Amino acid sequence: MKYNIDQIKENALQELESADSKKSLESLFVKYLGRKGRVTQFLRNISNLPPGERPEAGKKANLAKKSLDAAFQKKRRDIESKALQTEDRIDVSLPGRSPATGSLHPITRITDRICDIFVRFGFDIAEGPEVETDYYNFEALNIQKNHPARDMQDTFYISDNIVLRTHTSPIQVRIMEQQAPPVRIIAPGKVYRCDSDLTHTPMFHQVEGLMVDKKATFGDLKGMLTLFIHQIFDDKISLRFRPSFFPFTEPSAEVDILCVICRGKGCRVCSGTGWLEVLGCGMVHPAVFENAGYDTDLYKGFAFGMGIERIAMLKYRIDDIRKYFENDLRFLRQF
Ligand code: FA5
Ligand code: MG
Repeated sequence: MKYNIDQIKENALQELESADSKKSLESLFVKYLGRKGRVTQFLRNISNLPPGERPEAGKKANLAKKSLDAAFQKKRRDIESKALQTEDRIDVSLPGRSPATGSLHPITRITDRICDIFVRFGFDIAEGPEVETDYYNFEALNIQKNHPARDMQDTFYISDNIVLRTHTSPIQVRIMEQQAPPVRIIAPGKVYRCDSDLTHTPMFHQVEGLMVDKKATFGDLKGMLTLFIHQIFDDKISLRFRPSFFPFTEPSAEVDILCVICRGKGCRVCSGTGWLEVLGCGMVHPAVFENAGYDTDLYKGFAFGMGIERIAMLKYRIDDIRKYFENDLRFLRQF
């Protein structure tokens, strides 16, 4: 038995001497130190020896295993460093591997595009908090508690007086509190509503617009929004202003765009109407000016709030708004 482990070690070292590749080294390792290797086998068989011989045999075998492990490691390093010296380290004829690059989300792109257009119209960019007080989200916009208009937007309440903003309109009030007229701002951002189907998601984006001046008319609003829509799509797109109601504007309208999916014939995206609503707008209600401390005799203003995903759906002909938020790279890479 004593002889046996010494012999095994001796043989292993001899064979190791002549190993000259990673492959031959690995098969040698399996032969001696692998799960069924000779050294391993030897160690396993120690328990079959008479009890008196076990301690010494065990000690010897462990020492042999240790020195073999070390010898294998050294050989492995030798072979690797030799390979580095002799092999071509860089094959310059191989095509390059380009690193994966990220890109802007389609919603971010459209937001930038919308902002660019309005910046060229002379608007500044503003922002406001996503977690908003009941006052700014509703009350200051002429929507009192228990006002039926609160049902128009299914609200996520954080507490009695704190909400996730349901629209970007609270920014109008925040800006007017800080800034004397004239005002020309647009404010993009996330908004939240308890809502989900082909054209609604619980989180979506709006861009708010507000213009206040001594002379601002509904005609200006109509002209500017028409020009905007022609710029973001093209001159040939069909749009319509449809009378509507918002407590914070009077008169109010909504703008629809001819559904690009069915070209107005009626489909599931436009709920069979042939039109898709993209924004709400109107002349700022005097009550809102009063809440913000503006002189209602001196100033007029108009405001609008558009759904960015809706514009992106029409621009890229996407038939389900939820695709924008599933983070499927196959979808996102197309933009
Ligand atoms: C508003 O939110 C008003 N604050 C807009 C406004 C601003 C009117 C200033 C007057 C003056 P509305 O709830 O209609 O209005 O939403 C505006 C737009 O957001 C809609 O036209 C639509 O394009 C988009 N939108 C509304 N709900 C969702 C939703 N759940 N998912 C995606 N887009 C939505
Ligand atoms: Mg609406």
